[in-house]
Amino acid sequence: MPDSHAQCRVEPGGSASYNRPVAGFEIRLTLRDEAATAELGARIAAALAPGHVIALSGELGAGKTALARAILRGLGVDGHVPSPTFTLVQAYETPGLTLHHFDFYRIERASELSELGLDDALEGGAVLIEWPERGMPDYLTADALKITLEPTGETTREARISGPERWRDAFGGAMP
Ligand SMILES: Nc1ncnc2c1ncn2[C@@H]1O[C@H](COP(=O)(O)OP(=O)(O)OP(=O)(O)O)[C@@H](O)[C@H]1O
Ligand SMILES: [Mg+2]
Repeated sequence: MPDSHAQCRVEPGGSASYNRPVAGFEIRLTLRDEAATAELGARIAAALAPGHVIALSGELGAGKTALARAILRGLGVDGHVPSPTFTLVQAYETPGLTLHHFDFYRIERASELSELGLDDALEGGAVLIEWPERGMPDYLTADALKITLEPTGETTREARISGPERWRDAFGGAMP
């Protein structure tokens, strides 16, 4: 087990799902360095399936693309993984799953999403979305795994993770 396992920590009491009208979970992880972010990505990759939506939030440079790369590495992608900042979407055929990596930062109209093939991408596989607050349709929000990264130091990130109950096990006891 790589050292980075020890660097992901669930805050005490952070797994509560009370006060939430819809069944779900919410946890906070402290990511001490990029290795910890890579480990988080590997966990997500192991649980990812067609139809899943991962929404990655956080300020510029928070680490959304770094986490997306880690997820893709976990899915077996070993080539270059560019940021979709300018292309808006990058598609990957991984051994078990088709994955589309979107960046909505530059989206200006909802119609651009269908032009980019968001619905088709979801029908055929899973999607990662950076900057979901810039245009992710409401109908995707309830079922999405939502991750917000907040820089707390040069290499440290606070990850707030919430989503439907079925995702809870992906972050369970494996991240002490
Ligand atoms: N623990 C960490 N997790 C993720 N990235 C980290 C970490 N520590 C340092 N970094 C650095 O932070 C930067 C994150 O950049 P990244 O492109 O992933 O941000 P982003 O959130 O996608 O930004 P943007 O909104 O511009 O797309 C990288 O330079 C990365 O090396
Ligand atoms: Mg990015």
